Formats: sequence, structure tokens, C-alpha cells
Amino acid sequence: MTASLTIRGAWSAARENCAPGCFCYHASWRLFRQAGLKGNPRWHTAFYQRALAERQPSTALVCGSSDETMPQILTELQPGMQITVADACPTPLTLINTWAKETGTQVFTLRSEAPELAGVSGSFDLIVTDGLLSLLPSPADREAVITRLAGLLSEDGLLLYTSRIAGRAGYLEYDRIGRAGQALAATTWPATSAERMVLARQRLRHPSRPSPFASPDQIADAFRNGFGQVRLFTRSAPPTVALALHPAFLIGRGSVCVGIAATQSRRP
Ligand SMILES: C[S@@+](CC[C@H](N)C(=O)[O-])C[C@H]1O[C@@H](n2cnc3c(N)ncnc32)[C@H](O)[C@@H]1O
Repeated sequence: MTASLTIRGAWSAARENCAPGCFCYHASWRLFRQAGLKGNPRWHTAFYQRALAERQPSTALVCGSSDETMPQILTELQPGMQITVADACPTPLTLINTWAKETGTQVFTLRSEAPELAGVSGSFDLIVTDGLLSLLPSPADREAVITRLAGLLSEDGLLLYTSRIAGRAGYLEYDRIGRAGQALAATTWPATSAERMVLARQRLRHPSRPSPFASPDQIADAFRNGFGQVRLFTRSAPPTVALALHPAFLIGRGSVCVGIAATQSRRP
């Protein structure tokens, strides 16, 4: 199946593929990414570049990717690398397959959910995941993902994790606009109008992406059980104009981009 790589195309792909739990997120994701309102892998390109400067991985696993952005960045940084993308939902996989076809890039996609990651095997020189830990409900789940990913790395492989930590305001910039956008998307969910309204109300009440971590160091600590070496990078400059203009950044309380580079994986 293919989808057009536009805001409308991504929304259509979400209507065809998503479960209610992720429809509002995937249907509105491209709009928010392009508007520069929501954190996405482009905000961490400098970190990926730096982390890969002295490496030439030939295989990579992307665990969770809302659309084609992450495989696109990896291909720009390391052309010819064999990329596998695992995601719990078929919508991003459809978009990634379309992008791969349009650009002649070889990417293997599979529907698979972390921490189990059924169907994902082998060892990868590079594993990349953005924001996934914030989506896992419990510390046990987060630990299980880190252990599973550590076990999928080659002996001298590198794991890169990126995320954002909310500033002193306690929530990420544009969280309310994000919720409103997702609620609006809910009104286009292919279901009865009563079901759409329930979904829309849920999205309005639910913070877009509550982070389980209060500081960059807490994220680094989460990786220390699975890896012998964990390096932490942070960047507090606003990654987009939209963020730079947000009141939280104007008063010096903006969110922080966090990058973790983990090596020497402790295999389970
Ligand atoms: C991990 S974040 C990635 C966000 C990031 N901004 C990006 O564009 O790559 C969101 C993606 O992870 C997927 N996802 C959420 N929970 C997952 C899980 N437990 N296993 C695999 N994929 C998951 C969602 O379907 C979504 O596509």
C-alpha cells in the first residue's frame, strides 16, 4: 500500500490503518512536525551527526518512527546503510515504504511492538529511537525495552536515544495546541459520531506526551543498567522558530533536547 507524503496523505493513511489509540496522533503528526511545534528526529540531527562522526554502521534498527523522517536522516548521514524500521502501527510503515519507493532507498519495515519486538532479530551496528521511553507506561516496560535493544546491538554497536525534557513550566511547549489538534483529528475518525466525541474528549484531557523523566540525568541513568558506557548530550537552544517564540523560551524556561549515546551493551 502507498500513501502520499503530504499532510492529507498521512491523515488518509491513518484513517485506513490506525487503531483508535494512535489515530489522533498519526493523523495530525505530519502537520505538527512541519509546523515545527512537536519534537521530531530533525531536532536532533546535530546530535546524530556528532555521534556517527567516527563510525560507519552498515546496519541500523529504528524502533518506533512516526513517519519517514528518521530513516531519511539516517540515509543522509550514512548512505547505503541497511535500515530496518519496527513500529507498532502500520501507518508510519506505509509512509516509510512510500518514501523508500519514491527515493529508491532500501528499507525493511515490520509491524512489531516494543519491548517484545517480535520478528526483529540479528545484530545491528546502530539502533536509534526517539521519544519511545516516554510512551511506555511503567519503569518495568522501559527497562525491558532497554534490555531488548541492548541484546539486538552488535558487539561494538551504538544505541542513540533522543527525547525532550519539559522546562520548568512542567509540560512541553504547544502541548495544548497539540491536544486540540488531536481532538480535531478525532472528529474525522471513521466511527459513529458518539465514538468520535468520546475520542475527542479523551485527547483534550490527555497531555500529548507526558515524560516519565524529570531531568536529562534520569534518562541517562535509565540506560546505565543495559550499557557499560552512556554519554549524555543536551541542547537548550530552541530547535524551531515556533519554539523560540513560545513564552516558555522567552522567559528561559524552554524544553531541553536530550541525546543519549550508549555503547558496550550488556547482553541479557
Ligand atoms: C517512538 S515515537 C517516535 C516519534 C518521533 N518523533 C519520530 O517521528 O520518529 C512514536 C512512534 O512510536 C510508535 N510506538 C509507540 N509505542 C510503541 C511500541 N511500544 N513499540 C513500537 N512502536 C511504538 C508509534 O506508533 C509512533 O509511530
